[in-house]
Amino acid sequence: MKDFLSVSSCTTQDLLELLDLSDKLKKYYKKGNRDLCLVGKSLVMLFEKPSLRTRMSFQIAMSQLGGNPIYVKPEDIGGIGKREPIKDMARVLDRYADGIMARTFAHETVIELAKFAEIPVINALTDWSHPCQAMADIMTIREHFGKLAGIKIAYIGDGNNVARSLAFGCAKLGMKIVIASPKGYELDEKSISRTNEIAPGTTTQTDDPRQAVKDANIIYTDTWISMGQEDEKAKRIADFQGFAVDAELISLSPKAKIMHCLPAYRGYEITDEAMESENSIVFDQAENRLHFQRALLKKLLS
Ligand code: CP
Ligand code: NVA
Repeated sequence: MKDFLSVSSCTTQDLLELLDLSDKLKKYYKKGNRDLCLVGKSLVMLFEKPSLRTRMSFQIAMSQLGGNPIYVKPEDIGGIGKREPIKDMARVLDRYADGIMARTFAHETVIELAKFAEIPVINALTDWSHPCQAMADIMTIREHFGKLAGIKIAYIGDGNNVARSLAFGCAKLGMKIVIASPKGYELDEKSISRTNEIAPGTTTQTDDPRQAVKDANIIYTDTWISMGQEDEKAKRIADFQGFAVDAELISLSPKAKIMHCLPAYRGYEITDEAMESENSIVFDQAENRLHFQRALLKKLLS
């Protein structure tokens, strides 16, 4: 495993090893210990989109391992793939740094970086996937339920990057996911069939959120308007009516844990009440970004 570009490109064994290492390092760090395995190593962090959680958790994880995180805005380097080809940029960074993480619009950008850099490349969200989020979420699910096998996630909303990474995580790790989206916003058919080839029955799709949450252990949602879709805001808000995670939907599966990758747009995909409910584990998910990525950096860079 050189890179971490998607959940789908990792083996189940890789994913389980990463989860176990995340748990182990979480406990170790919570006791006040430090594992300085990345002293003298640098991570270049390229961001084409805004970020709170991803940027801060990677930066802090890298520092906690003794390494040096370097944040780069696209405008500082003349844009990714604009001032010079991505393949040239990748080979230059390869000569300086020990790892690259990138948050980009096109998924092809992280693939191109990984192809031309010999150092590890980590996907910190693309339009296609958000594997660090999905793995931190799965770590959180395992902490709360003590297992992954047989867990059912009801994902309510946009069939987007987060939904796709979760679906592949489910396929690789023995969970099931029902995705409830309005017509036109479903997860693409190819991703659904691929997850069902990996593990038959992993992913099902519906346009009825009430049906999706039946017997669910988890009710998960994400924004209706992902970064880069701001121009579609009015249409999306209209099209997603009836798909909010609210008290009424939660009442159909009252024991289900509530998850959201954040940032949350309260009053749209999730109500304030749902975010603050006693079953909400959204801040555990956010915390586990740090613990998962610390393990990922140790595995790939040390
Ligand atoms: N969930 C997540 O990736 O948050 P940021 O966009 O703030 O990094
Ligand atoms: N689907 C969202 C996730 C944000 C963390 C986006 O891509 O903007």
